[in-house]
Amino acid sequence: MQTTEKVTGELFHKLWKKFTTQIFDQSVQLIFNRYKANNFDMNIIKNKKVLDAGCGSGRHVVASAYLGAKKVIGIDISKKQIALNKKNFKSIKNIDFKHSSTDQIKFANNYFDYVISSGVIHHTKDYEKSLDEVLRVCKKGGKIFLLIYGAGGFRWPIIKALRPMAKKIGIDEIKKSMKVSGLPLNNIKHFTDDLFVPIQKITQKKEIIKMLKEKKVKEIKFWSTQKTFDHESNFKSYLNEFYKLKKIFLNVKKDIPEKDLAIKIINIYIKKINSILKKKISIKKKRQIVIGEGNHRILITK
Ligand SMILES: C[S@@+](CC[C@H](N)C(=O)[O-])C[C@H]1O[C@@H](n2cnc3c(N)ncnc32)[C@H](O)[C@@H]1O
Repeated sequence: MQTTEKVTGELFHKLWKKFTTQIFDQSVQLIFNRYKANNFDMNIIKNKKVLDAGCGSGRHVVASAYLGAKKVIGIDISKKQIALNKKNFKSIKNIDFKHSSTDQIKFANNYFDYVISSGVIHHTKDYEKSLDEVLRVCKKGGKIFLLIYGAGGFRWPIIKALRPMAKKIGIDEIKKSMKVSGLPLNNIKHFTDDLFVPIQKITQKKEIIKMLKEKKVKEIKFWSTQKTFDHESNFKSYLNEFYKLKKIFLNVKKDIPEKDLAIKIINIYIKKINSILKKKISIKKKRQIVIGEGNHRILITK
């Protein structure tokens, strides 16, 4: 029997192992760009003990090492990914990777100065336990960076509608079609994640604030939702995601009704977004309707 965790870990590992050095380096650069754009204080990392909970390819681990961390540990649910990271980064002395789940982190209370968990806890079976664990292993006064999916906008509803169709078509067929569509590997990564990851929890901003306040954290700071350097940066890049999704389903070779249904649904969404963008309402309002909260990037002080 495959557990949800195993399926999740395996899904991501299959994607990460295809990453070239160039794509990996770009993903590290993106972290630097986001830190800079959000005036991140590098002293949070410099000479500090850092944990990346759900490290995947290890990009945050490597970025933290470059930024002067004393020691960085990456944990992930995928044993194969941990083994691959150990091999890939064996030349970097102050980093290490361990197999561990975010809902049971194998470190003592208050061990780390800075804990990163980027795009992970919304995929776990026990979201709140993972959040508690990430907070537990961070020192009092230390920092935690969280990326979790936010509510609203059109992207999550369409993904929710397309997931059963993608499942029916099959992951191998969808992956083939992504390649035929000429999508870059990082796009293949996030669309495969969106369409096939077993657990995908969306959290409203007010919900996460309430949860963190109940856990008595000292400070909660949300990063800008516009300096994201990804599809949520502007309407054009956001809408482009829908065209890419359309291309994926158009290029499916299998003759199956779910393919046509998916295309019909995507067309409806594209039409709806375009009609909202043409409306005489403020950009802020359009953003609220079309993009919604976007991903929450939160810097927390324990
Ligand atoms: C979207 S990826 C994010 C990877 C990395 N944090 C980054 O920003 O590039 C999610 C990662 O979380 C890992 N993961 C999922 N559930 C987990 C769990 N319960 N414990 C530890 N890692 C988990 C997956 O294996 C995957 O590598």
